[in-house]
Amino acid sequence: MFKNKIVIVTGGGNGIGKSISKKFSELNATVCVTDLNLDDAKKTASECKNKSYYFKLDVTKKNEIKKIFSKINAIVGNYNILVSNAGVSSMNKIEDLTEDEWDHNFNVNTKGVFLTNQEAIVHFKKNNIEGRIVNTASLAAKVGAPLLSHYSASKFAVIGFTQSAARETAKFGIRINAVCPGFVKTSMQEREIEWESKIRSMTKNEVIDEYISQTPLGRLEEPDDVAKVVLFLAGSSSDFMTGQAINVTGGVYMT
Ligand SMILES: NC(=O)c1ccc[n+]([C@@H]2O[C@H](COP(=O)([O-])OP(=O)(O)OC[C@H]3O[C@@H](n4cnc5c(N)ncnc54)[C@H](O)[C@@H]3O)[C@@H](O)[C@H]2O)c1
Repeated sequence: MFKNKIVIVTGGGNGIGKSISKKFSELNATVCVTDLNLDDAKKTASECKNKSYYFKLDVTKKNEIKKIFSKINAIVGNYNILVSNAGVSSMNKIEDLTEDEWDHNFNVNTKGVFLTNQEAIVHFKKNNIEGRIVNTASLAAKVGAPLLSHYSASKFAVIGFTQSAARETAKFGIRINAVCPGFVKTSMQEREIEWESKIRSMTKNEVIDEYISQTPLGRLEEPDDVAKVVLFLAGSSSDFMTGQAINVTGGVYMT
């Protein structure tokens, strides 16, 4: 399905980004796995079925993005798809939240999406490529979440950016959408369960039970649940969709 397509995935070394990379590869895309952690990117690439590449990339650094995306064009070919997935979180009550936490969440989650999308849009327009971009937002981009005010604000911004970018680029045949995952079993979730159980004086199992009880489909989300929708948004089945932010939450949030 993605034969002859070159896909860049950010934050591809773990969790959802890893699953997205592997799924694209299963469908014959050439995947360029990028991550802050080179070893993790390398490991994901080694698990990809099709020929794949890996690069160290910090999405908060404009110069690094320019350098790595140009390198991909030079050694792999003109990329057609960007999945801007890298993200971070922390948990704190607003009164305890530090400026560093606020800045780090906005730098990676929001500025990272802006900078990677900007570079891809320049590339798509310059080369007349009807490129596809999928940004990873969140359930917390649709509805505020306690202990995650900074994260939630940074992800609401991803949807605003995605809609604006989609409107600006539609006339060039470029489509830009977002996915909004719910409670996904990844290392990010493990850290959040640890923090939340401490802040709310609960056991980890009680936190997990709360996540599941909020989920009509009755289980924690798997990274593959998100990856399947990302592939849909990057593929031809969604040709008439742009500027959308699709919930993939097992029904936690329905509008
Ligand atoms: N896990 C969830 O429940 C959940 C829910 C909603 C949205 N999300 C979003 O999904 C995306 C992936 O999350 P995950 O759960 O797989 O997290 P994860 O922590 O398991 O993986 C995130 C990856 O991003 C990388 N990364 C971190 N900072 C980076 C940077 N500056 N530049 C490049 N890479 C960087 C990490 O090294 C890691 O490999 C994030 O945007 C996250 O906010 C996750």
